Amino acid sequence: MKIKRSMILVSNDPESIRLGSQDLFRNLTEAVESYNLQDEVVVSTIDVSTMYDVQHANILPMVIVHPDAAVYGPVKPEDGRYLVEEHIYKGRIVNDLLAPPKLLTGSIGWLRGRKGYNPAEQRIVLERAGRIDPESIEDYITANGYEALGKAVTEMTPESVIDVLEKSGLQGRGGAGFPTGRKWSFVRAAQGEKKYVVCNADESEPGTFKDRIVLEGDPHLTLEAMAIAGYAIGADEGYIYIRGEYGVAYQRLQQAITQAEELGFLGNNIFGADFSFHIHVHAGAGAYVCGEETALIESIEGKRGEPRSRPPYPTTNGLWDKPTLVNNVETLANVPAILRNGAEWYKSLGTPSSPGTKVYTIMGNVNFRGVIEVPMGITLREVINIYAKGMKPGSTLKLAQTGGSSGSIIPADLQDTPMDFESFRKAGVSLGSGALLICDQNTCIVDLIKVLAQFFRFESCGKCTPCRIGTQRLYDITERLSRGQGELADLDIALNLIDELARTSNCGLGQTAGTAFRGMVTHFRDEVEAHILRRECPVGVCSMESEMIPD
Ligand SMILES: Cc1cc2nc3c(=O)[nH]c(=O)nc-3n(C[C@H](O)[C@H](O)[C@H](O)COP(=O)(O)O)c2cc1C
Ligand code: SF4
Repeated sequence: MKIKRSMILVSNDPESIRLGSQDLFRNLTEAVESYNLQDEVVVSTIDVSTMYDVQHANILPMVIVHPDAAVYGPVKPEDGRYLVEEHIYKGRIVNDLLAPPKLLTGSIGWLRGRKGYNPAEQRIVLERAGRIDPESIEDYITANGYEALGKAVTEMTPESVIDVLEKSGLQGRGGAGFPTGRKWSFVRAAQGEKKYVVCNADESEPGTFKDRIVLEGDPHLTLEAMAIAGYAIGADEGYIYIRGEYGVAYQRLQQAITQAEELGFLGNNIFGADFSFHIHVHAGAGAYVCGEETALIESIEGKRGEPRSRPPYPTTNGLWDKPTLVNNVETLANVPAILRNGAEWYKSLGTPSSPGTKVYTIMGNVNFRGVIEVPMGITLREVINIYAKGMKPGSTLKLAQTGGSSGSIIPADLQDTPMDFESFRKAGVSLGSGALLICDQNTCIVDLIKVLAQFFRFESCGKCTPCRIGTQRLYDITERLSRGQGELADLDIALNLIDELARTSNCGLGQTAGTAFRGMVTHFRDEVEAHILRRECPVGVCSMESEMIPD
């Protein structure tokens, strides 16, 4: 397999097409082939209609060449060969075709500014993972470890720590993207002598294993961040709620706590200051719902892991009814670097509305599957072609699911949407926990949704009726569809059910159980209707008479 070294993207919005972008695309493709570079260079299209404002109309058709992030425009069809010869073959930016910088505003301007990023260049959270001995506190200290905690407790007030976080724009990486600094300020402001910091390391979203890499590869990072959080909100105790299967991470955290206590980074009077902080590790027993922050709190308290009704929120009434800060591992892991380098440094990474990096777990029909940390705002197309080293031989992208089981279905034509909280929100999809499932043309959408529906009906804790019954009904419908026994009316029934699930379920599990089903109907209605009207699975996956998955 040859690794793709470059990507040429041609704008394909209606205005670009009117101005000849399809001929341009053909000329670029032919030129790449004539230099025998087709194994190394991807020529593809980019839907810029979601990215440009009216000014960009003057630079259409537009061509973006990665990884140089060169934005050319307007490019005439006859310029295609010249562009390939100069930029791709000879490696020279074609200055006379570059779009005028003053017209590169908004997302396109940002794309232009991202010149030269290569895989793994933007590591904050995973900066040390794989490079230090995770069982050595000395290694951690040598790599700036506990420097941010020292700075916080000896040089900063709790308020100024929170202020830096608020200015950095860090948003929660556990799925919802809530502003971290704001959450810390809520807990700091909450009434009560006793407060807690809880690190959510449950990570039971299928396909998500980013937090595991952070915990196994750099356990002190989470401890340092939790202690900083304790100082900022006024807590002297913290809990790490860790997925029970994460045995290595559990051991390393325990060992790291002992080491940190011995050297005075945890325990009483940290750095000689009037601040004490103790951390406990609590292993979960294996339930997806226990990642939900209030179910997690119930579980730490020794009760059945069922979500509470909210409000009140954990920020005021959390663990043992005390004000509690709950943050995801990846969220916390950003904090020490932000304190060391400042809010402005952090804001210089990623996009203006979603600063920093994101850790993704990549799965599916691509050449590289694993964990990457990349700047916020990178597109799915870049993830697939550059970081995942392309689709597997013979595979073409059909869809991706972002954010795990509760995440959105992204059809191939949305792959140029920047992956950041705001852009995804605008596109009506969710970034979720960072799991990226990449599916090729052999994936049957109905089969995929059936598996997800099975997951939700199994994981529903049963506390509230809409979710307990609704997830089962949703599974029944998808199962019928996959056997060729569905009716068109089933789609409306399911969509109504999903609306009710979202409106009336007690927690995020039920509220998002139908997200993928809705995406299926929106983006792949023809394929679903083939299962209903022709009783056939176009991809040939559903046997059309398969058995129900037993309980
Ligand atoms: C069913 C369900 C499962 C969840 N699982 C996790 C999880 O494994 N890890 C996590 O950090 N957040 C999970 N969350 C989100 C948490 O409730 C919470 O929003 C998050 O831990 C807050 O941290 P953050 O602000 O740093 O993102 C889950 C939510 C729901 C509804
Ligand atoms: S929505 Fe589902 S998982 Fe959440 S409390 Fe209700 S039954 Fe339990």
